[in-house]
Amino acid sequence: MSKKNINSVTVFSPGRINLIGEHIDYNGGNVLPAAINRKLNLNFNKTHSNLCLVESFDKGKFEFDIDKPLVKSDTHWENYIYGVINEIKKTCNNKLGGFECFITSDLPIGAGISSSAALSCGFSKGLNELFDLGLSDLELIKISHAAEHDFVGIKCGVMDQFAVIMGKIKKLLILNCETLNYKLIDADFKAFKIVLLNTNVSHNLASSEYNIRRQECNMALSIIQNQYNEYKFLADVPEKIIFSLKKNFKKNIYHRALFVSRENKRTLKAAELIQRGKIEEFGNLMYHTHRELSKYYEVSCKELDFLVDFTKNISNVIGSRMMGGGFGGCTINLVQETYVNEFIELANKAYKAKFNINLSSIIVAISNGVEATKTI
Ligand code: GLA
Repeated sequence: MSKKNINSVTVFSPGRINLIGEHIDYNGGNVLPAAINRKLNLNFNKTHSNLCLVESFDKGKFEFDIDKPLVKSDTHWENYIYGVINEIKKTCNNKLGGFECFITSDLPIGAGISSSAALSCGFSKGLNELFDLGLSDLELIKISHAAEHDFVGIKCGVMDQFAVIMGKIKKLLILNCETLNYKLIDADFKAFKIVLLNTNVSHNLASSEYNIRRQECNMALSIIQNQYNEYKFLADVPEKIIFSLKKNFKKNIYHRALFVSRENKRTLKAAELIQRGKIEEFGNLMYHTHRELSKYYEVSCKELDFLVDFTKNISNVIGSRMMGGGFGGCTINLVQETYVNEFIELANKAYKAKFNINLSSIIVAISNGVEATKTI
């Protein structure tokens, strides 16, 4: 098919899970994400003019002129799209033209499974194919990341965009966020299924506290660098150095640093355990992570803590923790295959009785990252 004749592109852009390694990406450590079977569907058509129309099945629509400078919108989701276009214009301005894009989705928003990276990555992939921009996967990751980090202003790491673009069916990515080197490992959890329980709460602290955590980690790192300037990233600093500097930190900064150092080690350990089929030991690490995200990193909330605690006396659930940025969204659980339906029913009953909110659930299948199909 001649590249010049492309008029339409359909993109499937998945959400992601993260098995372990939370709040580690922006600290230069290791994370263990994967793309999942819940997706955005983006349909692009050229308009053969300078006009652009973006319409979401549930969030309304907006129009703009591709040749005019883009200014930040008051409508949050629109900025992910403006951010992507803004980044693409820096290198490929003369190749872009007008387009329409219609978006549908079965990916819940605010659930910690990265509907935002699905949007920015799906968008950058779609424009890349529609206008034959020739951008590599890594460039698409960087563009989508910059859209959120610089244009939207959430100082996120690169894990979500990486998983959404590079995900592979039945594989986990063990990604080093300092070097961006990664390895695919089998997502083989034996007799256990990955089940997400969505609290259906999204506390509005999420983005402000996220940026504060980044600042706190930078503070911790600069205190450490005063004495050990060989460490460029907080995730690389051994726990014993943090212990030895305890008196130099405020209590919360000390706890943030300890969490990051330990979580990075846990992630490497987890990848090793999964590869050796030691799934129950991995499940145990998930509980450790949750405990420290809640007590040391302080990004959990009562709904997430309740759901994790709820699993502790159920022998058919071997691991549970909050997932993603926190302050709402999902817990990720490893549940005995034959017990999944009963588990979801019991959790739903208990959660409803406690908070009078309905729980929703996703039984995860690990899928490919973003995929595009072109038509003339
Ligand atoms: C959000 C961010 C990611 C990562 C996680 C926490 O999903 O977008 O970059 O920091 O939170 O692990």
